[in-house]
Amino acid sequence: MEPTATKDVYGIGEIPPLGEVPEKMHAMTIRRERHGRPAAAMQAELLDVPDVGPNEVLVYVMSAGVNYNGVWASLGEPLSPLDVHKHDNHVAGSDASGVVWKVGSGITTWKPGDEVVIHCNQSCGECHHCNGGSPMLCRSQRIWGYETTHGSFAQFCKVQGQQLLPKPKHLTWAEAGCYMLVYATAWRMLYGHPPHTLKPAMNVLIWGASGGLGTMAIQICKAAGANPIAVVSSASKGEYCLQLGAKAYINRKDFDCWGKLPDPSDPEGYRDYIRRVRKFGKAIWDITGKVDVDIVFEHPGEQTFPVSCYVVRRGGMVVFCAGTTGYNLTFDARYVWMRQKRIQGSHFASKHDADEANHLVMDQKIHTGLSQSFSFAETSVPHELMIDNKHPPGNMVVNINATVDGCRNLAESRNAQQHLSS
Ligand SMILES: NC(=O)c1ccc[n+]([C@@H]2O[C@H](COP(=O)([O-])OP(=O)(O)OC[C@H]3O[C@@H](n4cnc5c(N)ncnc54)[C@H](OP(=O)(O)O)[C@@H]3O)[C@@H](O)[C@H]2O)c1
Repeated sequence: MEPTATKDVYGIGEIPPLGEVPEKMHAMTIRRERHGRPAAAMQAELLDVPDVGPNEVLVYVMSAGVNYNGVWASLGEPLSPLDVHKHDNHVAGSDASGVVWKVGSGITTWKPGDEVVIHCNQSCGECHHCNGGSPMLCRSQRIWGYETTHGSFAQFCKVQGQQLLPKPKHLTWAEAGCYMLVYATAWRMLYGHPPHTLKPAMNVLIWGASGGLGTMAIQICKAAGANPIAVVSSASKGEYCLQLGAKAYINRKDFDCWGKLPDPSDPEGYRDYIRRVRKFGKAIWDITGKVDVDIVFEHPGEQTFPVSCYVVRRGGMVVFCAGTTGYNLTFDARYVWMRQKRIQGSHFASKHDADEANHLVMDQKIHTGLSQSFSFAETSVPHELMIDNKHPPGNMVVNINATVDGCRNLAESRNAQQHLSS
């Protein structure tokens, strides 16, 4: 039987008795009338703690990862999440570490007290894609904390039971809360599209290599014995990538071949454009020894896509999961068909991908790249940094109930809390 709640609401970082569910919780919400910059859009409110259905789980959130989803949700662009899930408020947050607090009647593999990290894919669980195929192709597939509410920027979040994975025990709550979204996405981009899967000695060009996706892509390539080639916008970011395992880095500011494909019916202008792209290609060849890259790990989109499609090798793959600089993507089709290149869209990951990837973290072969931690009240701050591309390399986190740094499990957090209040 569920314990009777002794309080209607707990303070941030105040840990209720295990399994006790208060009526209300502190949550960072976005409302339609506040769509805009995160500083204005994200506001703290008291909300009802959501109830769970048969296949759902309520998780007491320790730390919540910061991703672009929170930026897009704040802006309400390219669409408002409120129009997708139809609730009157949106609680963002698609990454978390935390503790299972209450389970639905159909959940058998998890129980209150289990320490977990959460992957953000939700699907129906019943169709043929969810059973033997890829749940990413399920017709009701959606991203938790973006296309659904009840995300992780709140004391409690609500997820499907299949979203839970064991928390790697060696990580602090903050380290554990910051990586799964970008890591599992990068994993699927590099392993999820056979036959173009990552193999030893492959050359992989990684855009935004010091960012969330990029830092994970570098480490995955390194672990596979491949050659990650980082593209960044400053020497300091480049150095960070080298430390992480990149073979070399290229500073994109040294080149001027960005943006949409120019009009090929202007032969002079087009020739000049190809000359500028080849200069970038030469920088890649200087690293690889005059061979083209096997895979381009793409996500900036409009600004870089034509170049990505040009520089990838014959029969190679440009795999992309976003269009951060714009989604009106262009490329010179002649180079793609004549050289039989593959352009592959990729979106988050299945539980299978996430679980496979998580084993390398548990094995301490992948660092979660925690860069900076923020408090619950500061939730909008890292999102403001991200929107302006001023965030530090790696992954940022908001500590929701993990208010004491360095704790790795619930017992340590309780002890630290008791110590503070005594
Ligand atoms: N579909 C999915 O499942 C999925 C999953 C995760 C993320 N995403 C999306 O992927 C995108 C990146 O996410 P992230 O977490 O890696 O973000 P991030 O940490 O901000 O990294 C993005 C990187 O892009 C680079 N960049 C910015 N402007 C650029 C330009 N004009 N040309 C080339 N590179 C540029 C920046 O590096 P430099 O300035 O150093 O070049 C930045 O570090 C976001 O749009 C996010 O929503 C999609």
